[in-house]
Amino acid sequence: MSLRISVIGTGYLGTAVAVGLAELGHRVVGVDVDPDKIAALTQGRVPFYEPHLEPLLRTHVESGRLTFSSEIADAAAADVHFLCVGTPQRLDGLAADMADVDAALDALAPRLARPTLVVGRSTVPVGTAERLADRLAALAPAGVEAELAWNPEFTREGFAVEDVLRPDRLVFGVRSERAEQTLREVYAATIADGTPVIVTDFPTAELVKVSANAFLATKISFINAIAEICEVVGADVTKVAEAIGYDARIGRQFLNAGAGFGGGCLPKDIRAFMARAGEIGAGHALTFLAEVDAINLRRRERVAEIARELVGGSIAGRRVAVLGAAFKPDSDDVRDSPALTVSGQLHLQGAEVTVYDPKARETARLMFPTLTYADSALEACRDADVVLHLTEWSEFRELDPEVVGKVVANRNVVDGRNCLDADAWRAAGWTYRGLGRP
Ligand code: UGA
Repeated sequence: MSLRISVIGTGYLGTAVAVGLAELGHRVVGVDVDPDKIAALTQGRVPFYEPHLEPLLRTHVESGRLTFSSEIADAAAADVHFLCVGTPQRLDGLAADMADVDAALDALAPRLARPTLVVGRSTVPVGTAERLADRLAALAPAGVEAELAWNPEFTREGFAVEDVLRPDRLVFGVRSERAEQTLREVYAATIADGTPVIVTDFPTAELVKVSANAFLATKISFINAIAEICEVVGADVTKVAEAIGYDARIGRQFLNAGAGFGGGCLPKDIRAFMARAGEIGAGHALTFLAEVDAINLRRRERVAEIARELVGGSIAGRRVAVLGAAFKPDSDDVRDSPALTVSGQLHLQGAEVTVYDPKARETARLMFPTLTYADSALEACRDADVVLHLTEWSEFRELDPEVVGKVVANRNVVDGRNCLDADAWRAAGWTYRGLGRP
C-alpha cells in the first residue's frame, strides 16, 4: 500500500531515505530549511556526492512521486513523518546537539491535522524518544492522534542507496501495535525481501544505533592499537588483520589499520555516547571509548610524524602532496576527515600542502581555505618532497609509481590507508611507509 510520507531534513541521510521510500512505492515530500538544497533536489540534482543516488532521485522527481519543499506546512498532510535531521557534536562539549531535532518536532507537531506516526531516524542520546513523545503529545493540536516511533538508520555514506533499500536489519522502537503495523507497511517491500525486523522499546532502539557505531569505532581503534605495537616490533598489521579476520567470530571487516576513522558519525557518536552515559550515572561503563577516541586521534599525528621523518625531521618549507580529502572514498564529506586534519597540521608546521580529491575539493576548500587544491593527483604531486595517501579512492590505488615518480622532487610516500602495492612502489625507487607495517 502506498503511504504519504514526509522526510524532514534532506542532508546525506534524509535525501537517501526520501529517495529510498519513493523507490519502495510511497509518495514522499522532503522538507528542509535550506532553500538551496531544496532547489537542487527539486531539479533532480543531489547537492553532494553519493554514488547511484542521483539517477534514482531523478526518476522519482520526474514521476511526481517525490517532491521537495522548504515549508514544513507541506509535510502536514503525510501519514508518516521521518525525522532525519543531523545531531552534530555540541560546540561546548562532547554531547550531541539536539537543536535541529527539537526544532523539527516543534515546527511539525502543531501543524498535524490527522492521525500520524512521527518516526525518529537521527542518531540520538538514549532517552530522546521518550522526551520527544511527551513533547509531541503536548504540541499536537487537541484531538489529533499523533504517535512517536524510533527507527534508527544504519546507512553508510558511499553505499546509501544499497543500505536504505536493502538494510541488514530494521529496528522498530514502538509503544503500540498500531505504530508497529504502520512501520511494517512503510517497509513492506523490504520485509518481503527477507530483511529481519527487531521490534522493541524506545531506549533499546536508540541504543542499538549508538552501540553499533561504538563497536565499529572500537574495532578500528583495536587494530590501530595493534598497529602501534607492530611499529615497535617490526611486525605487519595487515597480516595480523588478515589472519585474525579468518576467525568468523572476529571477521575481517573494519580491521583496516591506517589514519583512522573520521566523518560525521563515528567520532561524534562515541563522544555523545560517553556524555550521555555520564548524565545517566553510568559513565564508568564507557570510559574505554575515550581510549578508542585517543588511539584514533594518535594515528593522525603518527602520519604527520612519519612525513616529518621522511623529509629529515622538519616539514617547514617542504612540499607535501596529499591524496584524498574526504573522510572515506565515494563521498565528498570532509567532516572530521583524517586527511584534512593531517593536511592542516602540516600546513601549520610550515609545509606547503597541496591536496587532491576526486570529489571533495569544494567541500574541503570551504573547511580549509588556506590549503592549495590541485585538479589531479599528478598535479598535487608535482615537486613534492613527500606524498601522503590518506583516502583510499580506487584512482589512487591505480596510480603508476613510475609515472608519479617522474613528477615528484623526492620519492617518499606514506600510505595512510595501507592499500597501495608496497612492493610496486618500492620497486620504482620509492621509500614506502605504511602504518603498522615494516
Ligand atoms: C557509519 C556506520 O558505518 C554506518 O553503519 C552508520 O549508519 C553511519 O556511520 C551513521 O551513523 O550514519 P559512515 O560514517 O558512512 O558510516 O562511515 P564508515 O564506513 O563507518 O567509515 C568511518 C570511518 O572509518 C572512515 O573514515 C573510514 O575510512 C574509517 N575506517 C573504516 C577505517 O579506518 N578502517 C576500517 O577498517 C573501516
